Amino acid sequence: MSFIKALQFGKITTKNNLILAPLAGYSHKPMRMMNRKYGVGYCVTEMVSVDGVIRESKKTLRYADISDAPEQTSIQLFGKDSPEDFYKASKIIQDTFGAKSININFGCPAPKVLRNGAGSRLLEEPHKIVDIVNAVKSSGVSVEAKIRCGFTYDNLDNIITALDGSEVDIIMLHCRLTSDKFKHGTAHWDYFQRARDLTSKKLIANGDIKTPEEALTVFQNYHVDGLMIGRGAIAKPYLFQQIIDYCETGSYKTPNPQELLDLLKNYAESWFEITGYKDIQPLRGALMSLLSGFEGVSMIRAALAKCISLEDVYQAIKLYEDL
Ligand SMILES: Cc1cc2nc3c(=O)[nH]c(=O)nc-3n(C[C@H](O)[C@H](O)[C@H](O)COP(=O)(O)O)c2cc1C
Repeated sequence: MSFIKALQFGKITTKNNLILAPLAGYSHKPMRMMNRKYGVGYCVTEMVSVDGVIRESKKTLRYADISDAPEQTSIQLFGKDSPEDFYKASKIIQDTFGAKSININFGCPAPKVLRNGAGSRLLEEPHKIVDIVNAVKSSGVSVEAKIRCGFTYDNLDNIITALDGSEVDIIMLHCRLTSDKFKHGTAHWDYFQRARDLTSKKLIANGDIKTPEEALTVFQNYHVDGLMIGRGAIAKPYLFQQIIDYCETGSYKTPNPQELLDLLKNYAESWFEITGYKDIQPLRGALMSLLSGFEGVSMIRAALAKCISLEDVYQAIKLYEDL
């Protein structure tokens, strides 16, 4: 029996149980479309501010465009402790973008977000999480809670128990403390097991899964309903296909440098087609990370770091072809 299968929660049935994590600055439409080509089953947008949605700020609403796959993408909302505002924002988002599922950010550790009482700050008082979840659910969508383990590990039991009694449809657990931010240590899988034992809700594991081998290990050792992957998918949009192949056949392919350059070129072209932007600057980091680990590409990476136009990207690629 393969670990890869469709995931059902609330009104959603996903293509499979591999999920692209919400990534501010990265999990935009072009990235989601690129990852879908390589097998990702479900995606979450970058975080979108509740206040911005209510103000109908054009800039904010741009992040919530899920016209690429409205049935297979949730919009992530973050905001302070106001269930009423979350309800209003959820309604606006459903009317504007046809969202079927809202992902609520209870994990962001950024100081600015914490100071505003949003993101991970809400984990300190689990009853607030429950009120927000239930308010969003009553607006007519499926509800996903994206959480961390809390400020201390003692928090986790209360958070999971509270969510278990709420109307949340699925929990996505990044197995780190708020204070761990992104880089401190690795994800703490023993706490995933603890959460698993405390809830019968659908539970997705997230944190430091960067290879097919790591993905299979998590599937084999924990009762996960699926995996969520962030940074690994920035550097390797094809990681999802590798995981599927590895789980199903025991082997997988890695693109050679020429295939990577083709991917890079397609990615850059789709950026301009999809966004209509005149500048590739927001995609530069992702393009550069595609080449990390490959030899002889330092000149292209340096050139990519300055790219603005599609022509600049073609010139950077030519540097490699002319070697
Ligand atoms: C650049 C970056 C942006 C992120 N933006 C968000 C976000 O908007 N919302 C959120 O809930 N988590 C965000 N995260 C956290 C990721 O969704 C994920 O939980 C974390 O990176 C751990 O998964 P990974 O090890 O697979 O990257 C972000 C992480 C990174 C590195």
